[in-house]
Order: sequence, then structure tokens, then C-alpha cells
Amino acid sequence: MPSEKKDNIFSKFKKLPIDSIPKTILVAITLCLFCSMIVSLAAVKLKSIQQENQIRDKQKNVLQVAGLYSEGINIEETFASFEPRIVDIESGLFTDKFNPRTFNDRKAASDPLLSIALKDDPASIGRRSNYVTVYLLKNNDGTIDKLILPIHGYGLWSTLYGFVALEEDTNKIFGLQFYQHAETPGLGAEVDNPKWKAQWKGKKLRNKDGDLLIQVAKTPGPSEYHIDAIAGATLTSNGVNNLVRFWVGEAGFKKFLTNFKDGKINVSN
Ligand SMILES: Cc1cc2nc3c(=O)[nH]c(=O)nc-3n(C[C@H](O)[C@H](O)[C@H](O)COP(=O)(O)O)c2cc1C
Repeated sequence: MPSEKKDNIFSKFKKLPIDSIPKTILVAITLCLFCSMIVSLAAVKLKSIQQENQIRDKQKNVLQVAGLYSEGINIEETFASFEPRIVDIESGLFTDKFNPRTFNDRKAASDPLLSIALKDDPASIGRRSNYVTVYLLKNNDGTIDKLILPIHGYGLWSTLYGFVALEEDTNKIFGLQFYQHAETPGLGAEVDNPKWKAQWKGKKLRNKDGDLLIQVAKTPGPSEYHIDAIAGATLTSNGVNNLVRFWVGEAGFKKFLTNFKDGKINVSN
């Protein structure tokens, strides 16, 4: 563009009244660019803090499900008493293929090389990783006090992520805890209600014949295996029922739990 013409446009623009449409648009665009820069900068700067908080929240939930959390404790220090190990779901044994302190379970679940597509998918998760991080809480003599298994599956609006803590021969539930979901407060989100969660303590997964009987249901069942569905949130309750049964079932940890019970798992490190 010839510089004379350019000068012309600029001087014409300069002479426009302050509330003219071109000047208003220019101010709006500048403001938008400035704000988006601030938001992007904040997102980049805060990412590591957010990731750190997510890790801390997950650790807090492992402590909660194992009954070791109380207000004000040092989460990182208490969490250090847990030993993370990676389970090879297909063999039902521990694997040292990956570092359990850095292994990303969620990434693995979407990696075609590390996961399988589920044909029968009651938990509505699409794919299941072949490698899953579990947490061992040991007694002083090296035996296992609690085994913490990660679980996830679809409720009504969202995928619920959580943990189930097992004790004794791993057939008895110590607790259940979700650390992420987007179910409705007062309805599906009652999965976080301590009163509802308390029902899980002491329930059994299977009977002596190995039949999987644990169930979340509206209709009453044998009290050893029965959890009352949340009133007004049957769909979320069904989701929790399906995901818990999936993860302790055939396509989940069943082989590992059987190996554990039969003493085929070497828990020493
Ligand atoms: C706005 C809205 C949010 C809801 N959120 C949930 C929910 O998070 N979980 C759930 O199971 N049901 C939720 N429901 C209710 C379900 O639509 C359904 O009615 C309920 O699961 C049936 O449970 P009930 O047989 O115990 O009444 C919601 C309903 C509405 C209108």
C-alpha cells in the first residue's frame, strides 16, 4: 500500500470520534487479546500446581479409604507408608515393567498397546488397561493389612473414579471412596455421604464358592453382601454396582485377588 494512502487511513481513523464503531471494535479486540493472554498465562503457570493438587487429592483419598486420614495430617508423609505396585490384569500378578510411582493409569487405559477394548462393558469405560496401580498397606511383619484397588465406571452423568479398600483375605471390604465424579449434588453425589459409604465396611465380595455377590440394589438382599441404593439416585447407584462388580470380577482384579488369597503373590519388595 502506498505510504500516502496508509497515512490517510491512519489520520482518518485518528480523527474519528472516540465512540465511533471502528474505534469501539479496536478497543474490544485489544481487550480480548489482552484478557486471553492473561488467561493463557495463568493456565500455563497454574498447570503444575493443579497437577500437584490432583496428586495430593488422590493420595488423600487413598488415606481416607484406608481409614488413615484425619484433618491436619501430613498427607505426603502418611501416604509414604503405602507401597504402590502395578498389577498385570491378564496374569493376575505384579509386574515390574513400569515404575509404579510414575505410571499413569489413565493414559495407559487409552493406549492401544497397554489396554484392551471391552466387548462386555458393564462399567461403560470402553477400554480397560492391562496394567493398574494398586496400593499395599503392610503390617510391621510385612503381611498385608489393606489392599487398595482403583475403580472407575459410569454413573448417570459422569465417570466416577475411586478406590475400594480390601482387608483380611481380600474378600472383605474395608471402605469405598470416590475422588472424582460429576453426579448431581444431593442425588448421585450422595456417593460421598459418609453415612452411605459406611455401609460398605465389612461387606463381603464373594461367598465360599467364589460367587460374586456384592450388590448395590434398591431391593433388599443378604446383608453380608448388600448395599442400599441411594434414594432418588438409582441410576448412579446402578453405575456404582456395575463398576464395583466389574473391577473385582473376571475382567478386572479377580485373577489377582484369587492369586493373592492362594498366596501366589509375593508382597515383599
Ligand atoms: C436435574 C436432575 C438431576 C439428577 N441427577 C441424578 C443423579 O446424579 N443420579 C441419579 O441416579 N439420578 C439423578 N436424577 C434422577 C434420575 O433421573 C432418576 O429419576 C433416578 O435415578 C431414579 O431414582 P429413584 O428410582 O430412586 O427415584 C436426576 C434428576 C434430575 C431431574
